[in-house]
Amino acid sequence: MLSLSDFNWDLYIVPTSNITTGGFPHVRMRRNRSDAWVRRMVSETTLTTDDLIWPLFVVEGEGVREPVPSMPGVDRLSVDLIVEAALQARDLGIPAIAVFPNTNPDIKTPCAKEALNTNNLVCTAVRAIKEKLGSELGVICDVALDPYNSDGHDGIVDDGEILNDETVEILCQQSIVQAQAGCDIIAPSDMMDGRIRAIREALDGAGYQNVKILSYAAKYASGFYGPFRDAVGSGGVLKGDKKTYQMNPANTDEAIREVAGDIGEGADMVMVKPGMPYLDIVRRIKDKFLMPTFAYQVSGEYAMIQAAVENGWLDGDAVMMESLMAFKRAGADGVLTYFAPRAAKLLNER
Ligand code: PBG
Repeated sequence: MLSLSDFNWDLYIVPTSNITTGGFPHVRMRRNRSDAWVRRMVSETTLTTDDLIWPLFVVEGEGVREPVPSMPGVDRLSVDLIVEAALQARDLGIPAIAVFPNTNPDIKTPCAKEALNTNNLVCTAVRAIKEKLGSELGVICDVALDPYNSDGHDGIVDDGEILNDETVEILCQQSIVQAQAGCDIIAPSDMMDGRIRAIREALDGAGYQNVKILSYAAKYASGFYGPFRDAVGSGGVLKGDKKTYQMNPANTDEAIREVAGDIGEGADMVMVKPGMPYLDIVRRIKDKFLMPTFAYQVSGEYAMIQAAVENGWLDGDAVMMESLMAFKRAGADGVLTYFAPRAAKLLNER
């Protein structure tokens, strides 16, 4: 009996590079590009609103909409307007949003205690969103101390050192506080060692077995986070840099080890960050682990595109859609992007 594996499938593939057995002029690659319908038909990758996660910045007050100067088109919103944005996300078909707080500098402390306040900005926003939308929209919360820490670091700082294990204990409590508020996905962005296992155990212990963990597993010490730090107000206070915990941009094998570790510790989904300069990392991780893999098109990537668009140097819609498709082509299952509502609108108009 002949089985499928006995066939040499290579014989059926037209060797376009071998002129003696085909190739041009029999093969004309442009045939499949002649019209929009055929380009659509042979498209290898698709981008839909399901691929978009919208990061939002929440600020104190009511009816407050504060533009972030280094992120043209992005505003910090008070809780009431965050709820409006959440409704908009739902209506556009965006599956989830990520909420980041701009914390009043007066309540930032070296122990970042505001992170554990059940009535802090993030928790208040999450409760308000969930009250209105329930399970119609996923809500993601960052776990890290930088919005609350007077040093601007993701962990507790002692004499210039970012303490690992002490920080992880606080991150566990922060995760529980956010889960209590109704957060669906806890996203640790701090890069402390061992935090995924510790957070999983803490959540399970508190009865939150179904709260998911999206690990910022391969997060690089990047210059592209600058505008985000303006948006949350952590940039001015940051002492030094984050190179002792975030990854060296020179490394790729190390990203594999980070992701393997986080999956072993219980991550449900993993993330690569920044995005566009790190698409090689996205591809390696997707191929190797076959996990839900997300990429963050970070603030600096957004700012670069918007700055060029404002100067009339780039076509905004075109590069927005092209950049998002590139994430999908690299293997990402979704993209955290400040373009989310604009891209969703365009996708819905098609
Ligand atoms: C906080 C955090 C950062 C971002 C997401 N979570 C900044 C940082 O690590 O300094 C960056 C997002 C962006 O630039 O859009 N840990």
